[in-house]
Formats: sequence, C-alpha cells, structure tokens
Amino acid sequence: MSPINSLTLRRPDDWHLHLRDGALLRAVLPATVERFARAIVMPNLRPPVTTRAEAAAYRDRILALVPPGAGFQPLMTCYATDDIDAGQVEAGWREGLFVAVKLYPAHATTNSDHGVTDPARIRPLLERLQRLGMPLLVHGEVTDPEIDIFDREAVFLERVLAPMLAEFPALRVVLEHVTTAEAVAFVRAHAAGGRLGATITAHHLLINRNALFAGGLRPHAYCLPVAKRERHRQALIGAATSGEPAFFLGTDSAPHPVAAKESACGCAGLFTAPAALELYVEVFDRAGALDRLETFASLNGPRFYRLPVNDGTVTLERAAWRMAEVVGDVVPFRAGETIAWRLVPGASLETP
Ligand code: NCD
Ligand code: ZN
Repeated sequence: MSPINSLTLRRPDDWHLHLRDGALLRAVLPATVERFARAIVMPNLRPPVTTRAEAAAYRDRILALVPPGAGFQPLMTCYATDDIDAGQVEAGWREGLFVAVKLYPAHATTNSDHGVTDPARIRPLLERLQRLGMPLLVHGEVTDPEIDIFDREAVFLERVLAPMLAEFPALRVVLEHVTTAEAVAFVRAHAAGGRLGATITAHHLLINRNALFAGGLRPHAYCLPVAKRERHRQALIGAATSGEPAFFLGTDSAPHPVAAKESACGCAGLFTAPAALELYVEVFDRAGALDRLETFASLNGPRFYRLPVNDGTVTLERAAWRMAEVVGDVVPFRAGETIAWRLVPGASLETP
C-alpha cells in the first residue's frame, strides 16, 4: 500500500491550552489560530482568572489579536480556589462565558498557588457543577512531597478522583493531560455515559522520560505531569488512536520565556503550539492510525463538551520543514528539528 501523503480533516479544537497574556499571548496565539477552531483557555494567569469580569476581559484581549475572518473562538475557564463562589460560576456558565472550571491542586504546577488545598473545601462547587452538567477539568496529580513525582498521577486517581466520582456520581470530569497506563485504564473504567473524558498531549505521545536526560539535563522536555516510562507512552498512543470517545486532543502547550526554562529552577511546560497538529499527525501516522485522527482531534471533544463540531477543514501534507529555534522569547518543542508533516496554509471555513 502506498503511504498516505495528504490528509484533510474537519477543523480540530485544542481542549487544553495555555495562551498567557500580554506580549507572550501576542507571540503564541497565531500558531493556535492557524490550526484550531476553538481552544479551552487555561485560567492560570497571575493572578488567576476567577471571576466573570476577569474571564470576559481576558477573552476580549485574546479576541482583539485574532485576525478578522479567522473564525477562532477561545473557550474560557474559571480557576477553582478554596473560596470559589459557585454562584459566580453558575452565572458565567448560563451566560455562555465559562465552559468549565479548572481544578489545580494547590502547588501542583505553574501558577497553581491559589489552587484547591483540599477537595473537601469545594463540595458546594462540585454539587453545583454536577447539577448544571458543567465540566470540571482536573490537573490530576497529588502534591504530597512523600509521593514519587512519577507516581503522583496514579496516586491522585486513587486518593482524590475515585472518591470524588463516587461522591458526585453525575459530575462530569476531564482528566487533563493523562500520562500513565493507570490513567488510561481509569478513564476507560469511568467513561460510560460521558462522565469522564481525558485530554492527551502531543508531547506525551512523542517522548518518554528519557528525553529529560538525553545527554544532559533538558529543561525544554520538562512539563507537568512529567513524561513517564515508555510503556506509559505506548498506553497513551493506544488510547489516542483507539477512537474511543473519552479521549481527545489537548496540547497543554504551555509557553515560558527561555530564561524561565533555562534556569536553576526551570518552569514546567512545553510549547508545542507551532506544530501542534503536525505532531499528532506524526504519531497517528507511525501508529498506522491516520484514519482515527479526525475522531480524536475534531469529533470526540465537541461530543464530550456537548458543542457542535466545527465547519470547515484543515489539510496536512507529508512535507518536512524545520521548526524555528525560537518563537518570540520561547523555545518551541523540537526547536531546530525536522517536522515531518506540514499544515497547508489557509483552513477552509466551508462545511466539508
Ligand atoms: C502548565 C503551565 O506552564 O501553565 N505547565 C505544564 O507543565 N503543563 C501548567 C499545567 O498545565 O500543569
Ligand atoms: Zn496545562
């Protein structure tokens, strides 16, 4: 069989994205707008996005940078704190501003110091979300320093997520950026009825933990949850290419200025947006599963979020190009290296 050299799919969405603000937002946004119709925008700014007013203002700052006719829609999230106002969340949901609430365990990752210290403290919020059918997006790692960093996701499932799903049987949850075979199994076990979904990043499909130490310490391969062993990467590839509705695309592209990464205490986060879709194509191509990419990238997410699928298409072709060394002040994933697939410029906004 001759290889597939060109691929057209319904316009995809990025269901987990960090766009930042100010100059960084301006530098990183175009890459996402070129590839995706919508993106779930993470609220971990400094200070975090916790109110309708802040979310609306942030959305407007994003929209002001979207070229006319690009047809890009940012989907805003609310950052959960211990004293979050559930009424504010409900009002934002009803007016179509908030599509979800993001739960960061306090101190789990970048800009999570205002996060939730104990899920018991947000019971009223969880009750409200359950009643509304509004998704809770979870950074699934415990922060207990006694727990090995490579085990923090698996332990979170047992200690936090399983009890939460048991206590709130109709709560709809997205386990964000899954990185382990345990998480894949957990999602499969709880996916019935669309109550639990999971995003999978391109980088966790492409690297394992060896990448962090390849010939030296590699800050640009450091993200949270940290990449795991090869067997976990294989489980993620199996999930992403399975076509199962619980798994969908979320890049977790998380840009940091180069000085914040190349530091004695470097920030977690990989900037994959400049080749986000192309990287997923590479994974699906190698797995012989290009025919499943549209399901993962363009259909499963809208289905979980109960949103319409996008009109229009994007086309990718097998044509190698070289990733820039820097984009603005940020070193992208695969900087200076070859990317095997290329996005054909100019998405079609027409219905396929
Ligand atoms: C994210 C960031 O930099 O905001 N970092 C990361 O490593 N993924 C935060 C997050 O999603 O954990
Ligand atoms: Zn993230």
